[in-house]
Amino acid sequence: MNRRTKLLSLLSDGGWHSGEALAETLGISRAGVWKQLDQLKVKYGLQVHSVRGRGYRLPNSLELLDRARINELLPAHLLGAIPQIEILDSVESTNSYLMEKMTPQLVSGQICLAERQTGGRGRRGRHWVSPFGSNIYFSMYRRFAMAPAELSGVSLVAGLAVINTLKQLGVEGVGLKWPNDVLYNGRKLAGLLLEVSGEQSGPSNVVIGIGLNVHLPSEQAGDINQPWIDLKQIPGGELLTRNQLVASLVENLQTVMDRFEKEGFEPLRLGWRTHDVYDGKDILLQFGDRTIKGIHRGIDETGALLVETAEGVKAYHGGEVSLRPA
Ligand code: BTN
Repeated sequence: MNRRTKLLSLLSDGGWHSGEALAETLGISRAGVWKQLDQLKVKYGLQVHSVRGRGYRLPNSLELLDRARINELLPAHLLGAIPQIEILDSVESTNSYLMEKMTPQLVSGQICLAERQTGGRGRRGRHWVSPFGSNIYFSMYRRFAMAPAELSGVSLVAGLAVINTLKQLGVEGVGLKWPNDVLYNGRKLAGLLLEVSGEQSGPSNVVIGIGLNVHLPSEQAGDINQPWIDLKQIPGGELLTRNQLVASLVENLQTVMDRFEKEGFEPLRLGWRTHDVYDGKDILLQFGDRTIKGIHRGIDETGALLVETAEGVKAYHGGEVSLRPA
């Protein structure tokens, strides 16, 4: 553990720590402590409160991501089957990180997590708010033998893994909005960004990016321009730890992706539809500056959204499309 990480883990209880005590524990001078505290601001965007006579503290307690803890929580059969999980303190985007590393050496199943993203990316060119230690920023790389065109259901399947995770951990009332938002009472709890590449006839490389709001202080939510929520505000979600959530997410993603790889999207389609909060409802579908109004008629075997208008039922694919209740 380097000094900065050690300092962070001392401060992670959210309590006051005197400069003297920190200096002694870290084996550095008071000026050295001050320098390290400054680095927490510069490198991680963390606010450190300081009061003369009391010392330093973080505004909230933090549970840092911990690979050993995540491994303890994973089922034994998975532990040997997946590559070592990578945890970064700060990165531009966990998706971009895996995409840049995407060489033949990158093993299918590789996972990367970060405490903070400086350029977290959302769908349709949006920014994903990613302050330090607050939420889960997760990416997994998978290689599929199939062609990219056969993978259209994969992004829906990944959303199902998030729902399964939350339900397994006791969070009820979560649902899906096509193509892959996770909602609670119409407010966004998690978003997924899937990036697919590969030769026309396969194999395909997929990076599955998941952003899950665990505890997003409202002063950090800044420019989020849609209703959002975090697990702290949801019954059953308030006490879940990030390490527990990550372990369960890894397990559920592995399960649905293995199933998708063997059997395709069809057997998972019904499970998806039972969680689709707008199925059968009036919706607006927006593509750039064009909007159509229709009735949501479920999803087809490729994961495309079926919308009924006066002209009949048409299938729409994810990408740049966005759905809203009418
Ligand atoms: C969306 O709903 O617009 C998708 C949000 C996806 C955010 C996650 S956070 C981890 C991964 N890295 C990124 O840059 N984006 C995804």
